[in-house]
Amino acid sequence: MKTHAIRINEYGGPDVLQLVEVEVPELGPGEARVRHTAIGLNFIDTYHRSGLYPGALPSGLGSEAAGIVEAVGDHVTDVKVGDRVVYTGMPADSYSEVRNFPAARLVQIPEGVSDEQAAATLLKGLTAWYLLHHSYPVKPGDNVLLYAAAGGVGLLAAQWARHLGVRVIGVVSTEEKAALARANGCAEIIMANDDVPACVREMTAGVGVAAVYDSVGKDTFMASLDCLRPHGVMVTFGNASGPVAPFAPAELAKRHSLYVTRPVLFDFVTTRPQLLEACGKLFEVLGNGAVKVSINQRYSLRDAATAHRDLEARKTSGSTILVP
Ligand SMILES: NC(=O)c1ccc[n+]([C@@H]2O[C@H](COP(=O)([O-])OP(=O)(O)OC[C@H]3O[C@@H](n4cnc5c(N)ncnc54)[C@H](OP(=O)(O)O)[C@@H]3O)[C@@H](O)[C@H]2O)c1
Repeated sequence: MKTHAIRINEYGGPDVLQLVEVEVPELGPGEARVRHTAIGLNFIDTYHRSGLYPGALPSGLGSEAAGIVEAVGDHVTDVKVGDRVVYTGMPADSYSEVRNFPAARLVQIPEGVSDEQAAATLLKGLTAWYLLHHSYPVKPGDNVLLYAAAGGVGLLAAQWARHLGVRVIGVVSTEEKAALARANGCAEIIMANDDVPACVREMTAGVGVAAVYDSVGKDTFMASLDCLRPHGVMVTFGNASGPVAPFAPAELAKRHSLYVTRPVLFDFVTTRPQLLEACGKLFEVLGNGAVKVSINQRYSLRDAATAHRDLEARKTSGSTILVP
């Protein structure tokens, strides 16, 4: 059986993405074949494409999709043919019409959640979940700072944090994104070009925030440390502007005993029970309306390079779907 899929033969800009026809391998034990109906676009895909997170080449791309189980291999008990499922994880190959994937990492999509909503939410929503419950477990009344607040992770995390009683200060680059972030959980907005630590001090009566959720990385890391209250937690979870440079631990002492963590989603959902528990929490807040997903861009799979260009140029907001 053949499928159209994106392949990269070298690292580089969006132009290295090539739509080709490839053979879908025979199903191995424990695998299921999924026909994709919606593919989630994520910033991590740009790191895999550029070589910031290198793997073996040639390679597929994409870490998230929803679809229908078309066939299952030996020893598969977690899903059956015809199930509507969503997944996130490696190996990267979700930019395709059909692929094989470990059945133990497929999650049934509940009624009331569409395939597109599932593909737009799983990776980003589980990220919001672990950021707010594990990296720095928020408490009602906390002030936190959230970068890229109108982005895919941003809109979901801001709404979820508000639902937990947190006052979210969002950082965004345009007025349009500011309005979107305000409508989706942010109590306050700081423009990315402003003096972010000074604005944070003003908004928190000089105290600083309990946690910074910083996905921008290189350009914002040190300023983010300046936004924290004593014993505050710096959660550096992305590299949209490039990877954070090495820094001296004394910088944490200078700012009153700060903590830094550099988390990765897949360390929080390593087993099927963990994955299902986290998805249960995500589907709960989606189901009760506390968190809504905004799918603000759609591209055909063959236009994946354009989607990457727009994501990296900060032209997108909310979640983006590639249509296979
Ligand atoms: N560690 C993990 O487990 C994990 C999991 C998921 C995602 N992430 C990270 O979370 C971040 C958000 O991911 P996402 O897929 O939801 O993307 P996104 O937030 O929708 O897009 C990235 C946003 O980052 C902001 N940004 C600031 N500086 C930028 C720059 N120099 N270049 C490009 N964008 C810049 C832009 O918002 P403004 O224009 O408003 O500034 C842009 O829209 C990414 O850094 C990603 O790597 C980490």
